[in-house]
Amino acid sequence: MEVIVQKTPEDMARAAAREVANVLNAKPNAVLGMATGSTPLGVYQELVKLHKRGELDFSHVTTFNLDEYVGLPITHPQSYHQFMHENFFRLVNIPAQNIHIPSGTTTNYPAFCAWYEQRIRECGGIDLQILGIGSDGHIAFNEPGSSLSSRTRLKTLAKQTIDDNARFFERREDVPIYAITMGVGTILEAREIILLANGAKKADAIAAAVEGPVTSMITASALQMHPSTRVYVDEPAASKLKMREYYDWIQEKMPGAPPA
Ligand code: PGA
Repeated sequence: MEVIVQKTPEDMARAAAREVANVLNAKPNAVLGMATGSTPLGVYQELVKLHKRGELDFSHVTTFNLDEYVGLPITHPQSYHQFMHENFFRLVNIPAQNIHIPSGTTTNYPAFCAWYEQRIRECGGIDLQILGIGSDGHIAFNEPGSSLSSRTRLKTLAKQTIDDNARFFERREDVPIYAITMGVGTILEAREIILLANGAKKADAIAAAVEGPVTSMITASALQMHPSTRVYVDEPAASKLKMREYYDWIQEKMPGAPPA
């Protein structure tokens, strides 16, 4: 894992967006794994800016979102379909048929989940996966205890996640209890991964994910097994990392390293 500490969430968003842009410049028909939540919003805003300036074309891009709440119609303001449409898809030029988001309203979850996995394979796998992290250390909705080789499936949300996400709903009781989510095993197959976190509330989860043991109690820790993950954090989210000085040293010395 490479840890890149940025001064502000805005710096983090710009750096992560640059990374997405590099992938698309090298491979215009790349497959992107998309995340929802407040953390990746800044990255989407940066990508939209680049697109509007004519510097980034999404017309050959395919996307797969990580997860969706079960039971919310796609038009519900808090559905991840709606979030992605409002904050990204309506603002760039990805063909509608190239956009994939798990269904939270299918009548057959096992069949849908199997189809989603198959569709990712048919599209050649995910080139770059964007991830946030929950305060309980989850990636996507892979809550503590999720198998580290899990695939797309239905999950029961942890109470902490319901509490964390209640801020987006009128009442806590309105937060869905179930979600459909890519598994940890699905995520680990992405060729490159960027994990984003900002704010002091994420400091414990980031420290556990990056420096703790690999454990299903913190599903983000499974990223330690992935060959190409970069972790973008702002100062407060980095505040509990013990090896912080070393991460900064690596970034400082990287330009002088022989080509890998
Ligand atoms: P957040 O959610 O970006 O809204 O903090 C992150 C997550 O739960 O993955």
